[in-house]
Amino acid sequence: MKILSVRADGFKNLKNVDISPGEKTNIVFGENAQGKTNLIEAVWICSGVRSFRGTRDRSFICLDGERAEIELEFENSFRKQIVKIASARPAVREKNVFLNGVKLRSVSKLFGQLNCVVFTPEDLELAKGSPDNRRSFLDLCISQIKNSYAEVVEKYETVLQQRNSLLKNIISGISSKDELEVWDMQLSKLGSYISMLRYNYAKKLNLYAAELYEKISSGREKLQLVYNSTVFDNLEGREDFSGEMAEEYLKKLRQSCQDDLRSGFTQTGVHRDDLTALLDGLNSREFGSQGQNRSVALVMKLSQAYILSGETKEEPVILLDDVLSELDQRRQDFVKSQIDGFQVFITCCKRPERTAGGQKFFEVKNGRVREV
Ligand SMILES: Nc1ncnc2c1ncn2[C@@H]1O[C@H](COP(=O)(O)OP(=O)(O)O)[C@@H](O)[C@H]1O
Ligand SMILES: [Mg+2]
Repeated sequence: MKILSVRADGFKNLKNVDISPGEKTNIVFGENAQGKTNLIEAVWICSGVRSFRGTRDRSFICLDGERAEIELEFENSFRKQIVKIASARPAVREKNVFLNGVKLRSVSKLFGQLNCVVFTPEDLELAKGSPDNRRSFLDLCISQIKNSYAEVVEKYETVLQQRNSLLKNIISGISSKDELEVWDMQLSKLGSYISMLRYNYAKKLNLYAAELYEKISSGREKLQLVYNSTVFDNLEGREDFSGEMAEEYLKKLRQSCQDDLRSGFTQTGVHRDDLTALLDGLNSREFGSQGQNRSVALVMKLSQAYILSGETKEEPVILLDDVLSELDQRRQDFVKSQIDGFQVFITCCKRPERTAGGQKFFEVKNGRVREV
């Protein structure tokens, strides 16, 4: 998959951007707050997956502008396609989305055409940081392969919030305990489905990540990624998410009901699960050095790209936002060698030396981008 051109105008601070990226490495450089990440974000939005920066609709359009437009041309092994997203004040929530000139209902309908993997400095905390980050990582990876999954996760979050408010109402005597049942039933089905998909994804991730880790650590230690469910003892081979699995889930919810009623929160469920990285059997989050944890994070993100590539039979476009400069030379070289052949966008502050043919350089200044 290759991006052939990116046009953006009025998206955040981007002005009259019209660039033709190269097939391989594209270096986007410039000082801070000039619009490098905005450019990366403009590309990412065209993939139809939710913003990695959590941009709200009202900040989509330039603060002192009236309209925003992004147009991106890309090709996979079969054909060229054009995505266009336009938005104008005052209806900032409304986006006019076109794929090859055909209007789509929303940005999320673009899903599955342009595949990207974005890598930010926050991702380097993936192994060391809170479980929440790893759950979001898994959820994002899965939704890139299976679009309907994101909705299931959203539904789960909503039901969970409702159950938590009910718990508080029960504690304060406004509601009765019987009312929990309807939420528990829903959580059990949604949660079982999420557990099943996350478990299977984590298994795949482990295959790739273990091999990559072997390389990055020159065989010094072995990495194993394990999905830790707070509900299920064993998820291997399980498929019946609306039957047997849901029953087991329901039982677990009922068992922890007393705890839930003491704390006012649902203590068990996929919102408490984690993806654990073991280095030679020890939890890297607790025992690993900063360097080891960064290596784990790197191989997790690289594995995401490889899995996406395998599932879609197209190499995703790799977006490295300010991430290489955070790494030591050895890890930088490792990342570069692993994504050789993919189309890559790398942002950084200083213009680096040209190291190979086929590189293109773009300078970003005050929202304007030009090839140099
Ligand atoms: N909706 C918006 N309208 C105008 N400017 C914006 C908007 N949102 C962000 N910006 C500006 O974009 C700049 C940051 O761009 P960013 O891409 O994050 O910079 P960097 O080059 O450091 O990656 C800031 O100057 C910020 O004020
Ligand atoms: Mg930036």
